[in-house]
Amino acid sequence: MSKILVTGGAGFIGSNFVRMVLLGSDHEVVNVDALTYAGNLENLTDVERHQRNTFVRADIADPAAMDQVFAEHRPDVVVHFAAESHVDRSVIDATAFVRTNVTGTQVLLDKSRIYKVQRFVHVSTDEVYGSLGPWGYFTEETPIQANSPYSASKAGSDLLVRAAVHTHHMDCIITRCSNNYGPFQFPEKLIPLMIANALEGKKLPVYGDGRNVRDWIYVTDHCEGIRMAMEHGKAGEVYNFGGDAERENIFVVKEILRRLGKGEDLIGYVKDRPGHDRRYAMDSSKARATLGWTPRHTFEAGLQKTLDWYVANKPWWERVRSGAYQAYYEQQYGRR
Ligand code: NAD
Ligand code: TYD
Repeated sequence: MSKILVTGGAGFIGSNFVRMVLLGSDHEVVNVDALTYAGNLENLTDVERHQRNTFVRADIADPAAMDQVFAEHRPDVVVHFAAESHVDRSVIDATAFVRTNVTGTQVLLDKSRIYKVQRFVHVSTDEVYGSLGPWGYFTEETPIQANSPYSASKAGSDLLVRAAVHTHHMDCIITRCSNNYGPFQFPEKLIPLMIANALEGKKLPVYGDGRNVRDWIYVTDHCEGIRMAMEHGKAGEVYNFGGDAERENIFVVKEILRRLGKGEDLIGYVKDRPGHDRRYAMDSSKARATLGWTPRHTFEAGLQKTLDWYVANKPWWERVRSGAYQAYYEQQYGRR
């Protein structure tokens, strides 16, 4: 049994990972999350009182706060999800992206070195590789060519992790994954936004010509990959994870409408995102060959599970959209 310090465990992927670890292993979890707009403890109500789960509200970019967390909890492993994660927000203002994604990652690396953490798993993204034309795939050797402030800040964090391996001989692993979807995703990202809008009869805003391509992966398949990399990955290595499910945005949007029994008249084409990357596609053959990982969900099966979840959990996303979810921390833990 190891003690895993999970950062960003109240967010979308982090909360799915925390649940997987608590219910599917005997590891202990210390979940460190600042509870920004994207952090939601209602993502974890079913495992909140699990005996191997501890929640700490703290900012990863605050060195004194992190020193306290590492000194008190002495983690064996760090799995680092915490980030500002939405491209559109980074286009408007990149300040928080640099602070959390770059500074925050360096603070965690420093504390991990001082407190002799055995392994640091850095959760990154395919977006650091830039944009593809109609052919080809990203491999772990593809040069970093980030295009948005979000992906540039993630690329910065990846390079800091690489430097910690090279300079300080730290045992770090970088995972890079394609676009996730599934339960508990904040309804500002494509799939949950489109589902929630369709269910409320609102317009579905499709950027540009709608023909940008993403490689979609069901969130628990990504979490399994991270867990396998954490347990069996080789120090200093990068592992790509993708869903083998390239789809144009407009296909995804139409499929959501079709499965919900809604008309395509809800689609509204809007002005394109500045610098919008055209296509992402992952070559995950290294993770398959060396970790024995494979995604379990086809896009069709994963999308149906996701639709069923959002239909059944309307109060969850209504509380996110109204802002009511932000009172949950105070209700459970009192004022900070
Ligand atoms: P998210 O935005 O849903 O969650 C981010 C979490 O980090 C939130 O709980 C937030 O409160 C927390 N956080 C933000 N700033 C913090 C700070 N300064 N200190 C402590 N906690 C802070 O993000 P997500 O979609 O779950 O993504 C998690 C990670 O996976 C990110 O690093 C992201 O770059 C990476 N990733 C995401 C995707 C995707 O499709 N969503 C794909 C590949 C990689
Ligand atoms: P998003 O979920 O923001 O993920 P990312 O930009 O990190 O890939 O967007 C996925 C795709 O959907 C991307 O090509 C932008 C597009 N998109 C829309 O067309 N409309 C929207 O309202 C959003 C949020 C995204």
